[in-house]
Amino acid sequence: MASETPLQKVKADLERYAASEGKGVSFLLAVRMFLVTPGFQFVFSRRLQEMVVRIPVIGRALRRVIWWASCLIFGSEIAMAAKIGGGLYVPHPYGIVVGSARIGRNMHLLQNVTIGRKSREEPGDPMFGDDVTVSAGAVLLGPITIGDGAVIGANSVVLKDVPPRALAIGIPARIIPAAAPPPAADGVETLVASSL
Ligand SMILES: CC(C)(COP(=O)(O)OP(=O)(O)OC[C@H]1O[C@@H](n2cnc3c(N)ncnc32)[C@H](O)[C@@H]1OP(=O)(O)O)[C@@H](O)C(=O)NCCC(=O)NCCS
Repeated sequence: MASETPLQKVKADLERYAASEGKGVSFLLAVRMFLVTPGFQFVFSRRLQEMVVRIPVIGRALRRVIWWASCLIFGSEIAMAAKIGGGLYVPHPYGIVVGSARIGRNMHLLQNVTIGRKSREEPGDPMFGDDVTVSAGAVLLGPITIGDGAVIGANSVVLKDVPPRALAIGIPARIIPAAAPPPAADGVETLVASSL
């Protein structure tokens, strides 16, 4: 994640939005994303902040202005201190609050999600692996780790770690572990043969 440049992230974001429509990135798709796709515009406003902050002297002030405008326009707020990998897909960028979380690549983030500290007195924000889906209205609090490919159900409140590819649902969230992979074909044959 740390080695991705902001431009690489924009490319990955575009690819993600294109893939959500079952397409590849094209000039026309990119124009549509930049001009009339609120979700992509919200994500791009974040990437723009990551770009302008590198400008000497005025970079930090410029970043804050873009962050402020993005908060007002979308009614969503991602902390400047958050770290977010490329391929971020936010289809409905409204009512989202993300604190100083670390988020891997290809997160699918839905509306009205809150990700942050448990309380002012308890520091620590969630950490996410790659390919995590956080469904509408979910709340994730504290220094918890969400594994690669995990799915957080709509309106769940997650206060504990979620293993890779597991499902977390409910309040407080219960964890449904990833299904075991099906046995290899030759393993099945061995089992059948030994039972004959
Ligand atoms: C979490 C989710 C992905 C699970 O989908 P699924 O794998 O098809 O799971 P199922 O519907 O088979 O449900 C499995 C169990 O979890 C329960 N469950 C599913 N979603 C739940 C949720 N959000 N909160 C609480 N329980 C939930 C089901 O009732 C079922 O319980 P049971 O085994 O006791 O009967 C889905 O329910 C969900 O929340 N999707 C969010 C989509 C979203 O945000 N859409 C917004 C689009 S704009």
